[in-house]
Amino acid sequence: MAKLTVNDLDVSGKRVFVRVDYNVPMEEKDGQMVVNDSTRIKETLPTLELLAKKGAKIILAAHLGRPKGQREATMSLKPVAKVLSEMIKKPVAFVDDCVGEQVELAVSKLNPGDILLLENVRYYNQEEENNPEFAAKLAANADVYVNDAFGAAHRAHASTEGIATAIVKKGGKAVAGLLMERELKFLGDELENASRPFVVILGGAKVSDKIKVIDTLLDKADTILIGGAMAYTFKLAEGLKVGQSLVEPDKVEVARAAVEKAKKKNVQFLIPSDNVVATPFKTDKLNKKGKPVIELQNPRVNAEKNIPDSEEGVDIGPATAKTYAEVISKAKTVLWNGPMGIFEDPRFAEGTFAVARAVVEATQKNGAKSIIGGGDSVKAINKAKLGDKVTFMSTGGGASLEFLEGKMLPGVAALSDK
Ligand code: 3PG
Repeated sequence: MAKLTVNDLDVSGKRVFVRVDYNVPMEEKDGQMVVNDSTRIKETLPTLELLAKKGAKIILAAHLGRPKGQREATMSLKPVAKVLSEMIKKPVAFVDDCVGEQVELAVSKLNPGDILLLENVRYYNQEEENNPEFAAKLAANADVYVNDAFGAAHRAHASTEGIATAIVKKGGKAVAGLLMERELKFLGDELENASRPFVVILGGAKVSDKIKVIDTLLDKADTILIGGAMAYTFKLAEGLKVGQSLVEPDKVEVARAAVEKAKKKNVQFLIPSDNVVATPFKTDKLNKKGKPVIELQNPRVNAEKNIPDSEEGVDIGPATAKTYAEVISKAKTVLWNGPMGIFEDPRFAEGTFAVARAVVEATQKNGAKSIIGGGDSVKAINKAKLGDKVTFMSTGGGASLEFLEGKMLPGVAALSDK
């Protein structure tokens, strides 16, 4: 059922608690934590600008990392306040807590249009426990709840789920932000009523991570193109040799069942016909976990379907990239989730980049709607400098996957219906 959004409310002079997903990558520079990718912050600006224009007093809450109920200094949201302030071009106040007197005082000082960012909600264990008393404390300083944190909507936590119930209980509304609305539109409605041909490209390491998504999309797509290490489990299921490639032998039956379902449903289901392979070599160096560093040496194209015993598949090959690009070029809807190979290593990035170029071309020449399903595929398309040339890039990782699996996300379910 459609949910109320920020567009449906009069928030003038009201205290509006906005849950955002500011779980952004951070790094230490000169002893300070700094934000090194501000995409998730940027994507919330339309909601915040609209609320400010409508005269709301904006209280922002988010989590950062997994501090497990501890005040981890490296996981403070304070550096985010600075970045947001620069992006939205106005002051963003910050308070060192997310509940209690300090927050109450800071909220009481807000004028319509002002923004206050609260400290990491996961500094309290009660957040992840979805503790109702804690949710009520979060709700105490607000009249309206807005959830714009699609990336965290698969978590039934106090600031994503419990607070919505608490606000509604005291007569307020719990609504979706504009980013949340866009995510639900592109990953939901647009795929539900996709223009055809609808081509899905799925990559990544594990069949087990994606099998539910594959199963759901087999009911919707015309073609599914498989890449990444996940493809080697499908090769194994076909009785092919995969050498040293990353595989899940216990998922072979699951892979076979997916291929069978594709046949029954008349869905074209392709796995790589060739691969880039390399020879893994154990070095004397140890990684952070104390395990030997494996170097991938002597990369080459293996034009055979079988991968030799001593080698490991690390990318799709040029013939596969060409076939996939041809299929993608005819699509009217494209959904892409997961890279085709180890794209972080330039030697093994070409397959992923070729797919990225094909997706962009389909968008621009064929008028296809191209939807990038979050996580590593967003990183990959940004690395190929093509991020601004697709229709939509999700800010969710786990949330996008669960939503694509067809699950109702608790953070969405808790919002008020239209
Ligand atoms: C994410 O980065 O995927 C979201 O912010 C959720 O974070 P979590 O996996 O720690 O709940």
